[in-house]
Amino acid sequence: MANIVIIGTQWGDEGKGKIVDLLAEYADIVVRFQGGNNAGHTMVVNGEQFISHLVPSGILQGKTCLIGNGVVVDPAVLIEEIEYLEKRGVACGPQQLMVSERAQVIMPYHKQIDVARENKKGKDKIGTTGRGIGPAYEDKANRQGVRFVDLIDTEGFREKLAATLPEKNFYLEKFLGAQPIDAQLISDQYTAFAKRLAPHVTDVSVVLNQAVAKGKQVLYEGAQGTHLDIDHGTYPFVTSSNTVSGNACCGSGVGPKMISGVIGVVKAYTTRVGAGPFASELFDDVGNYLQSKGAEFGATTGRRRRCGWLDMVILNNAVRLNGLTGLAITKLDVLGGLETLKICTAYRYQGQLLASFPANLKVLAQCEPVYETMDGWSQDISSIRTYEALPLNVRRYLRRIEELSGVPIQIISVGPQRDQTIVLDNPFAIS
Ligand code: GDP
Ligand code: IMO
Ligand code: MG
Repeated sequence: MANIVIIGTQWGDEGKGKIVDLLAEYADIVVRFQGGNNAGHTMVVNGEQFISHLVPSGILQGKTCLIGNGVVVDPAVLIEEIEYLEKRGVACGPQQLMVSERAQVIMPYHKQIDVARENKKGKDKIGTTGRGIGPAYEDKANRQGVRFVDLIDTEGFREKLAATLPEKNFYLEKFLGAQPIDAQLISDQYTAFAKRLAPHVTDVSVVLNQAVAKGKQVLYEGAQGTHLDIDHGTYPFVTSSNTVSGNACCGSGVGPKMISGVIGVVKAYTTRVGAGPFASELFDDVGNYLQSKGAEFGATTGRRRRCGWLDMVILNNAVRLNGLTGLAITKLDVLGGLETLKICTAYRYQGQLLASFPANLKVLAQCEPVYETMDGWSQDISSIRTYEALPLNVRRYLRRIEELSGVPIQIISVGPQRDQTIVLDNPFAIS
């Protein structure tokens, strides 16, 4: 049996949604284990686009979808997403979609604090999605959080809110200069959310472990990317959860022996939304070409994504941090039409090549990318469906990524549609 983790290797938006949707055909269960609706995962099936923020990207394949304990869930967004999917004919009832009773609930003050704090920081802001992700994880860590099990206990929820709200309002009003939150309003709103979502709430760890014991196959869907990880990313320009594969276990309630493979999704170039270091960023026509041909706008906030060359320093960091067993290369079609391509193979700092990814952002800011140049290709590869039919220079580019990373490429994506894909080695085929 195969149980596979899919994670982003860069700074998010690598095309995880597409790869999860594609591989979900072979899985029985798809589970989200971290992040929240800061994620925006795009699936395109038969020309129809779906963007999911919380519901796992296995929902279109009719698979059981689980939201694990490690996720922070905005109940209003979850309800909206369920209704949107159902309106488009996708079954999303309590049999299809379950939420961990231990998942943390994003409260209105989390969103307000997130936005007000960013405003106060001005030019030093992180560029968060403003969805309350950081403040919700802070409350989880300081033990002031509201879990789904607390939300559906109406009396307990009111007591928790009464205990927490004065501190939140003090901080909002006195420190951030923002509007305070009305207790009654939240209480009424969240009681209605609780009623609507209660049938979906369950012990996800038990459901998962029982399914695996019966031989079911699981796909663990990462959100964000390795370099947005709170421990391993470009701190403080990161998100507030562990995005690396190790958190698939912790964030869903399974042991490490339940994972059999880790696929790293790699955009054929690099993008980043929000602030923070990005060594191979391009500020020229090539950057604009990638941005416009790749339609690089955030799926959650609509912000323009910064673009640059493929960076093997960060990819190799992701190989190590996640224990990658395979790669899925996406958006390869976007590179078509460029005469030459560059791959960043190392960082030079004060004349010396660095041996590892620097933790110190002042050092990172002064790193110069060292590039290797390759010939590009002019053909449109988006309708190619076999490796052999790819132009020679495309295959050379792919082979170089394998050589430099030491990890085999298992999937190649040449367009946003589910079928615009070349599967070289299906990770579920080992069962
Ligand atoms: P995720 O957050 O990692 O799931 O990625 P996003 O959905 O935020 O962003 C990826 C974008 O690229 C989406 O608009 C996808 O539809 C699109 N996409 C995915 N794979 C490909 C591909 O191979 N080629 C092209 N041109 N677009 C792709
Ligand atoms: P998916 O799953 C790209 C970025 C934000 C910001 C930083 C912190 O679609 O790949 P947060 O709201 O999490 O506190 O913001 O992280 N960020 C993402 N960037 N893709 C994402 O998700 C992201 N989720 C958060 O832009 O820089
Ligand atoms: Mg995204």
